[in-house]
Amino acid sequence: MTAHTTSLKVGDQVVDLPVKEGTIGPAVVDIGKLYAQTGMFTYDPGFTSTAACESKITYIDGDEGVLLYRGYPIEQLAEHGDFLESCYLLLYGELPTPTQKHDFDYRVTRHTMVHEQMMRFFQGFRRDAHPMAVMVASVGAMSAFYHDSTDISDPYQRMVASMRMIAKMPTLAAMAYKYSIGQPFVYPKNDLDYTSNFLRMCFAVPCEEYKVNPVLSRALDRIFILHADHEQNASTSTVRLAGSSGANPFACIAAGIACLWGPAHGGANEAALQMLQEIGSVDNIPKYVAKAKDKNDPFRLMGFGHRVYKNYDPRAKIMQKTCHEVLNELGIKDDPLLDVAIELERIALSDPYFIEKKLYPNIDFYSGITLKAMGFPNDMFTVLFALARTVGWIGQWKEMIEDPGQRIGRPRQLYTGEPKRDYVPMAQRR
Ligand code: SDX
Repeated sequence: MTAHTTSLKVGDQVVDLPVKEGTIGPAVVDIGKLYAQTGMFTYDPGFTSTAACESKITYIDGDEGVLLYRGYPIEQLAEHGDFLESCYLLLYGELPTPTQKHDFDYRVTRHTMVHEQMMRFFQGFRRDAHPMAVMVASVGAMSAFYHDSTDISDPYQRMVASMRMIAKMPTLAAMAYKYSIGQPFVYPKNDLDYTSNFLRMCFAVPCEEYKVNPVLSRALDRIFILHADHEQNASTSTVRLAGSSGANPFACIAAGIACLWGPAHGGANEAALQMLQEIGSVDNIPKYVAKAKDKNDPFRLMGFGHRVYKNYDPRAKIMQKTCHEVLNELGIKDDPLLDVAIELERIALSDPYFIEKKLYPNIDFYSGITLKAMGFPNDMFTVLFALARTVGWIGQWKEMIEDPGQRIGRPRQLYTGEPKRDYVPMAQRR
């Protein structure tokens, strides 16, 4: 893969560094031996110019607004396939044959129940706990319930743990929701598809039959596809770093959920809807756009901007289309939040500040309106993001674990603290 070398002058020393070319996208300068050769580190705190690993899973072209899962454009996967098909593709690298798809669906479906003791585990939470706090805790606790799939050196146990994670996330997410509203947990049903099963576990009650709306189930399944993976984002990098120490997959996914929760990352979908609710009407938009542009105001337009996309997030376009589909299906003719979102997008995309900084709506901008219309409360939005992203985290973790050259991740630093100094006895301190 080394295409050629490039030279770096460090003081009066010139070092030759290998340059590696990928299939598509930017080449990389391999600096692995830079410290040994020069005694210097590179410095890139936000990893804006750093490739932390080699991967074959997901490719993003931020300038063109392109997202590929194993080479397939997200638009085509969202249009033609279902979420479990994308799960298979992300995990194994190829679209499944009919037999492989049937077998995969069968295996995932039969891992959807959780250990019955988890019901008691949930009783320890306050009912008003944020569902993301419940998810971090309960997914982490899975390593306390499923010891027989925590040995990462065993390929069979890695496969079982992966199936369990993908299959049980909807069950745990639905339990977190039911617990927060004081309703009884609903068991999964094996005769329902993945997303219909999840909707039923969230919204069915013992008093009556629950009928899944196929339009809403298809829409949510597509939303899961959009959220499934996204290259080396913050939460995926967290999962890779946690996994590099040999931690079990349940603990690694719990770390990923914790990172995703942040409002700069997956928490932005909840924050974006709260922002639209705070703006309230189209008339208030100019005031909030001014706040977003004011350097002295910490306010940002949630659901706008992206570290990689300097063009429209391709997922946001599909999200917007799905939002209209869901609102139409539910007979919601004029949702004031959607009016605010569409006008906010129009104003922002014509404002020089946003144009110059290449700030476009991202996947989180329209997802909240859609999920709220489906009946989910704001604090469940990031839980749904985590549910969908679990396959991406697992796929990236699997790729890292199966890399024969894999080593523990251990970044260095630029130290700007105190130089060595001697201890001062208490009596001498003033
Ligand atoms: C996700 O990485 C991924 O792939 C993540 C994700 C995935 O699928 O895993 O795509 C999911 O997390 C999407 C992003 C969701 N976050 C938000 O919507 C929160 C609002 N967005 C911002 O906080 C911000 O845009 C980030 C965090 C998304 C990106 O931050 P960067 O790359 O560090 O960019 P930056 O903060 O350096 O901003 C560049 C400039 C700054 O102005 P200057 O200091 O250069 O003058 O743009 C401004 C920022 O002030 N800016 C914004 C803004 N986002 C950036 N100004 C107003 N509103 C915004 N939303």
